[in-house]
Amino acid sequence: MCGIVGYSGPQSAATPLIEGLRRLEYRGYDSAGIALGVSGKLFVAKKAGKLANLENALDSSLPIVHSGIGHTRWATHGGPTDRNAHPHVDNDGKLAVIHNGIIENYSELRTKLEIRGHVFTSETDTESVAHLLSDLRKEHKGDLAAAMRDAVNVLRGSFTLVAIHADNPDVVVGVRRNSPLVVGLGNGENFMASDVAAFIEYTKRAIELGQDEIVTITPTSVVITDSDGKLVTPKEYEISWDAAAAQKGGFTHFMLKEIFEQPKAVADTLIGRLSDNGQIVLDELRMTAEEIRSLKKITVIACGTAYHAGMVAKYAIEKWAKIPVEVEIASEYRYRDPIIDPGTLVIAISQSGETMDTLMAVRHAKAAGARVLAICNTNSSTIPRESDAVLYTHAGPEIAVASTKALLTQMIAVYLIGLHLAQANGQLSDDQVQHLYRELLELPGKIEQILETVEPLRELTRSFSENNIVLFLGRNIGYPVALEGALKLKELAYIHAEGFAGGELKHGPIALIDNGTPVIAILPAGHEHALDEKMLSNIQEVKARGARVIVIAEEGAHVEGAEHIIRIPIVPALLQPVLATVPLQVFAYEMAVARGNDVDQPRNLAKSVTVE
Ligand code: F6R
Repeated sequence: MCGIVGYSGPQSAATPLIEGLRRLEYRGYDSAGIALGVSGKLFVAKKAGKLANLENALDSSLPIVHSGIGHTRWATHGGPTDRNAHPHVDNDGKLAVIHNGIIENYSELRTKLEIRGHVFTSETDTESVAHLLSDLRKEHKGDLAAAMRDAVNVLRGSFTLVAIHADNPDVVVGVRRNSPLVVGLGNGENFMASDVAAFIEYTKRAIELGQDEIVTITPTSVVITDSDGKLVTPKEYEISWDAAAAQKGGFTHFMLKEIFEQPKAVADTLIGRLSDNGQIVLDELRMTAEEIRSLKKITVIACGTAYHAGMVAKYAIEKWAKIPVEVEIASEYRYRDPIIDPGTLVIAISQSGETMDTLMAVRHAKAAGARVLAICNTNSSTIPRESDAVLYTHAGPEIAVASTKALLTQMIAVYLIGLHLAQANGQLSDDQVQHLYRELLELPGKIEQILETVEPLRELTRSFSENNIVLFLGRNIGYPVALEGALKLKELAYIHAEGFAGGELKHGPIALIDNGTPVIAILPAGHEHALDEKMLSNIQEVKARGARVIVIAEEGAHVEGAEHIIRIPIVPALLQPVLATVPLQVFAYEMAVARGNDVDQPRNLAKSVTVE
């Protein structure tokens, strides 16, 4: 939520700032703005709406200067207007600040600052920081970093703040608390951003910042201190993503590109996971066989699409490793006194590694003594940093707001964990594990097969584009797939979509079925259990009430009552979600296109949700 960029170096600052914002626009697109380090008085431009509005407003009078800050907003306090857009500036017009997060004590600060004579021009919580920093900087005789240190000790809430002052325009100062900020180390230039995607085209060297650490960059220096002013030794790391991964590469939308990247993402997440002696290699778990055997319970915490990967974990881990698994929406977890003891392993799943609801649940679990394992796609983000162990997925940057390839790799990660646990506690033989692992290795090819034959589905989808309700049915491990299909459709097509467990239909939801209601049913993989017959009955029940039924079924499976059948390759039942999800992603994508919606940046959403 909200994208932040800071730059100091030889380039005309507007270029890396606007480029960076373009890469971060997925984080929020209610407004965008920049402040450039013009000596004497800053140049500030900001516009409501997408980044393109700001670009159109920047004309040839744009000053060529070498430092600045930029922001793309997901509104919290104050509507998405020009006035509320960041940067916010002090009354001298010399200090500008951008912010991601929420300043909880902004109202109390605003009152105090107004009494001191500051005039506010927006409804945001952020503006109080601009005025506060302005006063503190004067107290510190022009030292912006010292002012930021004092501000951190006054501010409550979660925030990334980046500021610049016209009297030292080369100096950009940032800080983070419960919100992301990374530093990019260039050659004679330095960057700060919410996410490495903003500067990946200029450098692959980055530094992670700890809680409440203050960073000051100039073209040739990076200085980090803690909130007491003590110097901090930087933790540098190499960014493994390449710049091309953050471009559309010929696809019309990032989402479509990311759907088509799924075979590679799944294959990359599986690389090197079986040792020569047939053991699943998951050293990242940092658990001995003894510790695994003494596990009493696993709790998975996650939000949205990642929560659906958690549901898949429940089916797979319980079946293979016979360890009880509960799955909890992260935002609910810490508010209900969950039972946590040293025998509990908490698995936090998050693509971004920054989702505040998940982070808070991780902290709660850790404080209560649980061991926390993160499954994450973003290197050095906060959730893995605060967890005891991390298993990285290798989906590469996911730019479209709707999650696709991250989900498939999260499923792969939970399968690997399930197999590893089952092998360690003796619930599956080595032969069984190796067989399932070989099946996992075949998934990329099978996803490719689905993608090669997706054109008729795209055409079919367009015929449903006028419908305002779509229902999804699944049973067993097809149930999370149904939920995911509905979530994708809601967020992309703005259609009322619901996913149900097939057996629940008769307990209420069947009343929603009317003449012509589209129902998408996921037929369980037939070879491992008899649930497919029950789903076939559900299909008959909805059809009898006028539904138009689309069935996702494995090749060769017997299907009755469907208007359309989408065939997917045969896999062991527990692996089916990896394949069955793909046509539903395509369905949601095509619906959004047909309805003229913004596919990559659906309304009201942001990719990384860093507020609770
Ligand atoms: C849906 C979607 C969201 C995220 C959720 C968690 O397409 O992308 O539901 O899955 O906000 O985000 P992460 O995985 O970054 O914690």
